[in-house]
Amino acid sequence: MQAAGELSDAWATDRQWWKSAVVYQIYPRSFADSDGDGIGDLGGISSKIDYLADLGVDVIWLSPVYPSPQDDAGYDISNYQDIEPVFGTLADFDALLGAVHDRGMKLVMDLVVNHTSDEHPWFVESKSSPVNPKRDWYWWRPGREGMHGGDPGAEPTNWRASFSGSAWQYQAESGEYYLHLFSRKQPDLNWENPEVRGAVYQMMRWWLDRGVDGFRMDVINMISKDPLLPDGHTRSGLWGDGSPHYINGPRLHEFLQEMHREVLAGRKDQLLTVGEMPGCTVEEARLFTDQARAEVDMVFQFEHVELDQGATKWEVHPLRLADLKGSLGRWQAGLADVGWNSLYWNNHDQPRAVSRFGDDGEYRVRSAKLLGTLLHLHRGTPYVYQGEELGMTNAPFAQISDFRDIESINHFAEATASGQSPEAVLAALRTMSRDNARTPVQWNDSDNAGFSTGQPWIPVNPNYHEINASAARADPESVWHHYRTLIDLRHREPAVAYGDFTMVLPEHEQIYAFTRRLDDVELLVLGNVSGRTAMADQIPYAGNWENSELLITNAPAPDPSQPRLSLLPWEARVYRRVVADR
Ligand code: NOJ
Repeated sequence: MQAAGELSDAWATDRQWWKSAVVYQIYPRSFADSDGDGIGDLGGISSKIDYLADLGVDVIWLSPVYPSPQDDAGYDISNYQDIEPVFGTLADFDALLGAVHDRGMKLVMDLVVNHTSDEHPWFVESKSSPVNPKRDWYWWRPGREGMHGGDPGAEPTNWRASFSGSAWQYQAESGEYYLHLFSRKQPDLNWENPEVRGAVYQMMRWWLDRGVDGFRMDVINMISKDPLLPDGHTRSGLWGDGSPHYINGPRLHEFLQEMHREVLAGRKDQLLTVGEMPGCTVEEARLFTDQARAEVDMVFQFEHVELDQGATKWEVHPLRLADLKGSLGRWQAGLADVGWNSLYWNNHDQPRAVSRFGDDGEYRVRSAKLLGTLLHLHRGTPYVYQGEELGMTNAPFAQISDFRDIESINHFAEATASGQSPEAVLAALRTMSRDNARTPVQWNDSDNAGFSTGQPWIPVNPNYHEINASAARADPESVWHHYRTLIDLRHREPAVAYGDFTMVLPEHEQIYAFTRRLDDVELLVLGNVSGRTAMADQIPYAGNWENSELLITNAPAPDPSQPRLSLLPWEARVYRRVVADR
């Protein structure tokens, strides 16, 4: 006979708390400003904790709040164990954490340890001399053999940096280069060096001891590089793609398992670890998130948000629905028995989903609800990015001076210098720039959308008179109330959190349809991802579904004179039935 302990262990490995949880991401600069300097801060977040509790989310992921020169809006950290003064103090942080815990929620920190700021004391020491003990904490290399350091083409490899130009920065004093996969002010840490790893683990333990509930790990699949640093393939232009040599590198699993042993083991059950992993495949994700391997709880992958792009994110084309279903369906199938995925349309690096995948004009509310419905009904842990619950849209950027993001600004400079027309580059930025996600949260229709009494660091989207939290909360038909219902459904209906997933009509050009099944409960999710009516009567057992319980909808009650499975533009429905009914 099975002992009670064994039984509960089996249940526990299958039904971890974060499978029925919803994460809300806060981008602190743009969330809420409590002191009128135009930049969001911890006090502002604390003032909105009841708003988040009311929405029903379980976990807050805080984008970086550490001291930082803000070259990459906080993803360039100069001190891992303090708070950026613009955002507040450690005491403000503790107060926020206490308020989050008092409401039964958790708080997860952003862990940015692929790189530091070039102003971090570790790098300041490292760059001070080739014989400094911290020299090896970063990737320093001489120029290419036979070439003179600093000359064009003398970089140690041809790798391109994510924010344009070479991934190597020359230091004339030492005649060496350091590696930076992102901006020049974000030198990459050398994880080959055990002292680096030890220092990172110590810092992580410090935050856990302070009470935080886990980490979202920034580009964590880039920490292990091929130490031979081979050149990458070039497609066009000067720079090559080094990513095969630093994405999912040779020692990544070893490092993650070591981190788990050194930091997480023993206190893991209540924590959440999510690895941001660009370029991660389903097969790799199974390994990273197999609980038996003790690496991370879930990945945050990018395949589905790259389907509307060409070779770079700036070459944008319309999304084919079948491609989206193909990708998300493959991830659902690939992680069905082992592993776990994050579910998201938005974050601080992506344009606003309702503008990108929905209709931010006539059908803004309905299409925002459709996108939320489809996402939250998948298997995985859904992430709500601030303002998504309001159906916030992309911003009407007019000129390059309206942008603040280093990626956008550098791309504009590089692309126009290489001969692209400024208007064409601006058009791509308007569609894809990360700044679309970074305009202030629209709280009400007072000045600056109630975000700040001062001049916001980036302009508020002028549509705040119509789109804002206070109006949304007062309107039972709003996107906000719909998200609240979706979050509540995940908490109440085990089939949403744990059920099997089956894609239906994978090739259909308008309809996104799938079923979820747990024991005898089956859900059918239907979405018309288009601005034209669509018939969903090709789904299996259509007749039975028509008569089952309609749990969620984003449209007026079906017109009795129409076939019941005829869907209005952007209509989404969730049906539930007990399978014995079939
Ligand atoms: C991924 C983060 O999400 C992004 O905002 C940042 O620029 C890069 N990593 C570098 O830290």
